[in-house]
Order: sequence, then structure tokens, then C-alpha cells
Amino acid sequence: MNFYKIARSLLFRLDAERAHHLTLSGLRMAQRLGIASFMRSNAPQEPVKVMGLSFPNRVGLAAGLDKSGDCIAGFGSMGFGFVEVGTITPLAQDGNPKPRLFRIREHQAIINRMGFNNPGIETALKNIQKSRKGFDGILGINIGKNKITPNENALDDYVHCFRKSYGHADYIAVNISSPNTSGLRELQTPKFARELLSPLMKEKEKLKEETGKNVPVAVKIDPDMGNDQIKDLSDLFNELQIDAVIATNTTVSRMSISDHRLSNEKGGLSGAPLNERSNEVIAELHAELKDKIPIIGVGGINSKKDAEEKLSAGASLIQIYTGLIYQGPSLIKQLVRMEK
Ligand SMILES: Cc1cc2nc3c(=O)[nH]c(=O)nc-3n(C[C@H](O)[C@H](O)[C@H](O)COP(=O)(O)O)c2cc1C
Repeated sequence: MNFYKIARSLLFRLDAERAHHLTLSGLRMAQRLGIASFMRSNAPQEPVKVMGLSFPNRVGLAAGLDKSGDCIAGFGSMGFGFVEVGTITPLAQDGNPKPRLFRIREHQAIINRMGFNNPGIETALKNIQKSRKGFDGILGINIGKNKITPNENALDDYVHCFRKSYGHADYIAVNISSPNTSGLRELQTPKFARELLSPLMKEKEKLKEETGKNVPVAVKIDPDMGNDQIKDLSDLFNELQIDAVIATNTTVSRMSISDHRLSNEKGGLSGAPLNERSNEVIAELHAELKDKIPIIGVGGINSKKDAEEKLSAGASLIQIYTGLIYQGPSLIKQLVRMEK
């Protein structure tokens, strides 16, 4: 039995959110003591250029695990080539009432309705400055809007976080696809998406000129839209020359876990049951975007084979979250060895 299996059997006896906080504290301590890198793979790194950035390998940590940006080097030590922190909003917020995180062990899945609990952009940036020390991978900052901000004013929240993050991020992920902030997914409809993304891309050009630094913009989408909407969004991404698409966020579908006693819990489902749908969305996107706009594939990766399928469907990079909870750091070791 490996070390993670022992740790997991203890952690899985705890409430899911408590286990999450304990794991992050443990990781921060391991990082401080300089022992976190024992988890890292010795596999040769295969740097890859995507969005004009040089990634040490294709494997990233998906948004939502390091919501406060205070564990970056710890996750880097595990072997991730890139870490996406957030989602971060302008103001701190507590998120939804607990319980809001549920393990669906029989399906290697999670349902969450966290609701963007985060310390707000100012504190998060302070955390990021501290916790990225010693991290030599790529840092993504994932931004969103506060719960109290109506969609009509969403742009203000995104622009605020965008400006603040620009000098700190290697890329910025615009999250318009979480199911846990009421109405957020409406920002993916072509009208709202244009009203949001067009000014953000103009802001990017402005900041690029001011700072001399190019920070690519990636848009994160959900797996629950139909092919027509994927096509409409792809047209917009092509027109606005978005730098990357992250596919996908969690699903509100319960089709593949309908027999489970927790299937009626509200929120987004992640992990194994999402894998196939996320691959379909990636393939559909790739057919529209060709190789002009890279895709970061995420959703249900539990093995090297799953990751290779994402690359075959058209992804250039991959991210994991739920697979890491069930498999532990050994999954990263397997994934950095995948072949495109
Ligand atoms: C507990 C939890 C919290 C999450 N929070 C966020 C978030 O704040 N922002 C975001 O863009 N995605 C968030 N996600 C979605 C993940 O980044 C990822 O897109 C999704 O879980 C699918 O990948 P997976 O099957 O490997 O977990 C969260 C996922 C989980 C399980």
C-alpha cells in the first residue's frame, strides 16, 4: 500500500471539506520543510509551447483546489507543469452554506457547490506572491464575479480582477461556467459573452502596451451546452482571438450517477462520470477552432489513457482535480509520461 492510499483512507473518514483543508495545510508544511518534492516524478520533462508560453510539461492543476493561491510551490513540487489558482473575485466571499462538497466514491466523482469561496483579489495576490516562490512552472489566475454582482455589472468585476492579476499571472482564465454562482452560465450566451470578452481583450491589448508583457486569456466553458452553442462561442473566440479555451468545468447532469443516494445534491459533478462528455466538447471545439486556438482539456482524467484521449480529442494541455483526490500525486507521475 503506498503512502497516499494510507493517508486517503484516513482523510476519507473526515468530512470532505475538512479533509481538503487538512491536505492543503499538510502540503504547505511539507513545502516549508522541503520534503514536498519527494513526490515529484523523475520522468524527463517535455517542455511544450502553448499560448506563446513555455510549459515544463502538459499537466496542470485545475482551478478550485488552490482557491486562495497559497499553495502554489507546494503543488509545483508534486510535478505539475502549471497551476491555476482561483476562482478569485474582487471581494472576499464565504461561498455557499456547508455542507457543499460531497464525495461520490463509487463513481470516483465529487459534487461541489462551493460558490467561489475565496479571500478576494487583494489578499489572493499577496498569497500568490508568497506561495509562488520556488515555483518554476506556469501560473494561471482564474477570475470570476462576486455573488452580489448582477450579470449586467459582471464586466466591472472581471475587468477589476483582470487588471489586478495582469502583472502576476502567466495567463488569466476567465471563468464563465461555474454552476454554483446563480446566473453565471448566462455569460456564455453569445450576446453576454461578446459584451464581456470583447472589452476584456481590449483591456489586454492596453495592458500589453503599457507593461510590455503579453498575458494570454483563456476562457473556461461548461460541458452542458449543445453543439450549436459550442459553434457560436467558437466563432466568437476566433473573431476575438482568444488565446485558449479551457474545457470543461463541472456538469449539472446526473445521468451517469442517477442511481446514487447523493445524486440529488445540487452543484457541479466532476471526476470519472464527466470524462466522456468533456472529450466530446473538446472534439467539437477542436473541429471549430482547428489548431488556431489551443484547448486545455479537463474533466474526469484518472489515468494516462484518459489524458491521452484528451490530447487525441484536440487538447494541447490537460488539467486534473478530482483524479488527484482519488489517486494522489502518483497520478501526476503517470501523466507527465503521456504521449501526444
Ligand atoms: C471542489 C471543486 C471546486 C472547484 N472550484 C472551481 C473554481 O473555483 N473555478 C473553476 O474554474 N473551476 C472549479 N472547479 C472545476 C475544476 O477546475 C474542473 O474543471 C472540474 O472539476 C473537472 O475536472 P476533474 O474531473 O478533473 O475534477 C472545481 C471543482 C471541484 C471538484
